[in-house]
Order: sequence, then structure tokens, then C-alpha cells
Amino acid sequence: MAAIDVVIMAAGKGTRMKSSMPKVLHRIGGRALVQHVIDTAQTLAARRIVAITGHGAETVEAALSGQAGLQFVRQMPQLGTGHAVQQAAPVLPDDGITVVLSGDVPLTRAETLQALIAQCAGERLALLTLTMPDPTGYGRIVRDAQGQVRAIVEHKDASEAERAIREIYSGIMAVPTRLLKPWLARLDNHNAQQEYYLTDIVKFAVADGQAVAAHVIDDRVQVDGVNSPVQLAALERAYQLRQAEALMAQGVRLADPARLDVRGSLDCGADVEIDVNCVFEGHVSLGDGVRIGPNCVIANARIEAGAVIQAMTHIDGERAGVTVGPQATVGPFARLRPGAQLGAEVHVGNFVEIKNSSLAAGAKANHLAYLGDATVGERVNYGAGSITANYDGANKHRTVIEADVHVGSNCVLVAPVTLGAGGTIGGGSTITKDTAPGALSVARSKQVSLANWQRPQKVKR
Ligand code: UD1
Ligand code: CA
Repeated sequence: MAAIDVVIMAAGKGTRMKSSMPKVLHRIGGRALVQHVIDTAQTLAARRIVAITGHGAETVEAALSGQAGLQFVRQMPQLGTGHAVQQAAPVLPDDGITVVLSGDVPLTRAETLQALIAQCAGERLALLTLTMPDPTGYGRIVRDAQGQVRAIVEHKDASEAERAIREIYSGIMAVPTRLLKPWLARLDNHNAQQEYYLTDIVKFAVADGQAVAAHVIDDRVQVDGVNSPVQLAALERAYQLRQAEALMAQGVRLADPARLDVRGSLDCGADVEIDVNCVFEGHVSLGDGVRIGPNCVIANARIEAGAVIQAMTHIDGERAGVTVGPQATVGPFARLRPGAQLGAEVHVGNFVEIKNSSLAAGAKANHLAYLGDATVGERVNYGAGSITANYDGANKHRTVIEADVHVGSNCVLVAPVTLGAGGTIGGGSTITKDTAPGALSVARSKQVSLANWQRPQKVKR
């Protein structure tokens, strides 16, 4: 089979988005529209991927730079889809199959493109088509009495009879490059829009006696483009539903597949349960038996087997990542920031924030606390309202809390400081010096009581 070279048209303006950002950089599932198209092209093992840029070219190229096999060709000005592909022709080797895709059509399945390429087979022009109840605006597939494709007629150029045709061209084709190039050279702009229509190559193929194949699909979402915020939102839901269905097919139990958002990749083990309104971003993995409560936002984290993330928890590992160990429980209303590493059976409760800190197996911070830049030993109990003062205004310092320490409520641990193993810190202490193992350390003024204390009286005038 001939090598595959993909051309992605991405030079158009996208006026109806009413956005300063180039259309193809708007996101679905956290990924730019055109990135979806590139990723699909990668799964075809494309030899090269040529993105045609125009409007916002610099921004688009910067956003997509550094991807294997991807190159850019500029189209200035934009004189139509045929003109766009003409710009790419010099970089397309004659021995390949050119697959034409649009940067604003993100949800085409790789299997569909493979079937289209199989129809092309390095020998004939193959068009991806489908029948629509309302074909307004699309190019119509004109067939002869034998059902052979004769032409694509653009809506604006179509006769009444042609407008009645409901089979439309999706904008996606596969064509042997050696045939494509001479056809591109013959395009003109003598039509209603005064554009160079790529679709005119169909009539050249017919005139040359070359076969034209149509691969007909019935799943509209695969060819839907994004032209407006309404269409962007509709495709976002379609994409999310696809992901929800794929997860459920693996056995993941979703409380409601319509209330899940995966903006990245989510790997799940067996017997995972996810409640409503959860958002997953970046790369997240959930081990066997993990349960995620409602309204959690989880990004760049590994949640290990049997852990429970309760309602309203926010986890974002960013680059450093977050790990939640086996059988740990986090939340409700907890916040885990980059570098939070929780061991097995750790408990982190409501309004607890953890950043760049490790908590060894069995450690607990159940209420209203902050742990930043801390190393917390096994079975430590970290009291309500306690914080690490890890930042002196210029530098960050570490707090080490050794195994089995109990930190009382409302303590301030001024880093750098080490609390020796098995020690106890009295509630309300501000700890500025290391504490001895096994000791009770208290750092607050002694309580005094003044007997028979007379409260001040209000002065009468
Ligand atoms: C095109 C097809 C039409 C098909 C429809 C499917 C042509 C002439 N018509 O029409 O048959 O039914 O797609 O959606 O091809 N672009 C460029 N440079 C240009 C013009 C367009 O890169 O000079 C890009 C656009 O950014 C877009 C894609 O090509 O990604 C399609 O362009 P668009 O103007 O949307 O084509 P349609 O008129 O919709
Ligand atoms: Ca279009």
C-alpha cells in the first residue's frame, strides 16, 4: 500500500466564532480542534502531515510546533480549498496517497479514514460522503443513472434539482497524489464564490475516465465542523459522550455519562465508580476499586487501588504530579496540589491543603490544615487548624514530622524544623526549634486565671 500524506486545511478565518483566537485552536476535550485532527492522522501512520495555515498562521504554528512529521505550508491569501491544497502540492511526493482533512472537523474516526483509504487503494479518488436531512450549505454529490459519482456541486452553484440531492461531500477525501497534482493545476475560480474549489477535481477525474469512489457513512458527528460556539459546545458533548461510552465499555460505572468531562486521558482499573459532575484533566489514572465522589476536579494524578475521593475535592498535580496511595481517603473539600504524595491509608479531610509534601502510610490530616514542603512520617496525626509556615518571604523550607508524632490543633510549624518521632506538640504551639523524640513540646504562654475578675461596666452619664 502507498504511503499516506495528510493535508490539513486550517487557513480559514472562523468569523462566526467571534474570537481573537484562530478557530482551529479552540478546544474540545482540552485539545485544540486541529490537534484532534493531527492525532487522528498520526494513528494512520502518515508519512507526513502538512497543515495549511493562513489566518493567525503564526499563532497556529507556534501552538502546534515540535510534533513529529508535522510541517506547515502557508496559504496567503485564502482563495479556496483547491488553492489551499495547491500550496501543499510541492511537498507531497507523487508516490503517495493524499488524505485531505479539515482542521475544524475534529471527530472523524481513524477507522473511517482507513476505510476511505482502502477505497482509494492508491488508484482512485475516494470521497467521504453522507446523507443529511438538511444538506443546505454543503457540496452535493451528483451521481448518474448508474449511481456513479459524476461531480460535486457547491450549494451556491447548484440548480434547484441539485439542491434536492441530500448526499453531501464531507470535505474529506483520499486521492493518489500522482492524479491529484495535474487536477489541481486545472482548477479555476469561475464559480459563484470566485474560489478555487478542491471539489472540482471530481469532474476532472470523470472527464479523464478515472473512477471515483464514495465511502458513505451515517454518523454525522464524524464530519461536523466547528464554525460557532454553539457547534463547538455540541461537539464537546458528543466527544464527552464517546469517552463516557468507552469507559463504561471497560466496566467503569458512571453515575451519569452526560455529566462527565475528560479533558485529557483517563485510565481506569476494574470496578471504578465515578459520581456526577467530575472533571478530569491532563493524565489521570484510577486504580482498581477507586471511587470518586460528585463534583471533583482531578488533574495529573495517580489514584491507587481502593482509594476514595470524596465530594468537591480538587486535585491538580500539574507537572510534579499527585499520588494518592491505596485505600487512602481524601475529601470532602480537600485540595491536593503539585507534589502531594499520599501513602497507603492516608486520610485527608475537609479544607486541608497539601503541596509538595509526602504523607507516609496511615498519616492523617483530617480538618482545616496546611502542609507545604513537608515530609510526614507514618501514622502522624496532624491536628485541625495546624499549618507549616514554609515560606519566609524569600525562600521555602522543609518541615519534617517523624513517625507517630501527634501535632495538636492550631499549631504553626516554622520551617525549617524537625519534629522527633513519637513526640507530641501541644495545641496552639508555634514551633520554631526541633523537638525531641517522644517529648511533649509546648510553645505558648502559660495559662493564668485571675480570680473574681470584675468585667468593665458601662459608664452611665
Ligand atoms: C467545503 C466543500 C464542500 C463540503 C464542505 C464540508 C469546497 C469547495 N467545498 O465547503 O463541498 O460540503 O466543505 O464542510 O471544498 N480553507 C482553507 N483555505 C481556503 C478555504 C478554506 O484552508 O482558502 C479551509 C477552512 O479553514 C476549512 C476548510 O478549508 O477548514 C473548508 O473550508 P470551508 O470554507 O468551510 O468550505 P465549505 O464552503 O464549507
Ligand atoms: Ca465548512
